[in-house]
Amino acid sequence: MNNLDLYAKAEHLLGIQEATEALHELYLHVLQDYSVNTLLDVGCGRGGFMQMMQESGVTCKGIDLSPVMVDACKKEGLDVECIDIQEEHGSYDAIVAIFDVLNFLDKTALSEFLEAVAEKLNEGGIFVADINTLHGFSNVAEGTMSAEDEHSFLCVDALFEQNKLHTTFTLFEKESQGLYTKLQDTIVQYFHKIDTFSRLASLKLLEKQNISLYDRNDKTLLVLQKKVKQ
Ligand SMILES: C[S@@+](CC[C@H](N)C(=O)[O-])C[C@H]1O[C@@H](n2cnc3c(N)ncnc32)[C@H](O)[C@@H]1O
Repeated sequence: MNNLDLYAKAEHLLGIQEATEALHELYLHVLQDYSVNTLLDVGCGRGGFMQMMQESGVTCKGIDLSPVMVDACKKEGLDVECIDIQEEHGSYDAIVAIFDVLNFLDKTALSEFLEAVAEKLNEGGIFVADINTLHGFSNVAEGTMSAEDEHSFLCVDALFEQNKLHTTFTLFEKESQGLYTKLQDTIVQYFHKIDTFSRLASLKLLEKQNISLYDRNDKTLLVLQKKVKQ
């Protein structure tokens, strides 16, 4: 099992449902200012945002690197694939990467990812994504929590140092006869400066918005547009 699948299995215990919905509402609101008929949701998770956009008449495709997430989307009848953005062949009016997706990428991977985004956008197409601020990483994300339901027990331990957040997930899943299976893995998230997005060859930074999801200014929302080829 990859570490993103462990995240997928643990997500329902993280208590992020309300924040996720608030973030989806914000993205919906931002996208309403643009002409969007087709949308690619990168790191689509369980597909909640795609469902919302489809209800507004937008044709959506999702991609995610977690097979667990992709299966959940397929059960909802959504158009999803378990592929990297480099392997995507379509072109879209808008691409989104919602809730930390860009922070899962290190500097090199982010640069390759943004080039692929520009390549998959139609002329004038827009890319909307959020990134965690330093405050979001060090004051909000860092720390320890635990949660449980009748099937599983989760412990999360997150440490932010040298601009990286190391989050270790330990999930105990109840088996028969009082036995548990223990799953453990670490996800690393990388802090990115806004500057990274203001000097890209193929995307122009149109807008940056402070977001206060759990605390004041813990995230920044970025809106970028594909540059017209000279
Ligand atoms: C915090 S979840 C957010 C899910 C969803 N966007 C939402 O708003 O509910 C991050 C998702 O990004 C996926 N992911 C992380 N890195 C990715 C990448 N490079 N390409 C595609 N999916 C990725 C993870 O598997 C996970 O489903």
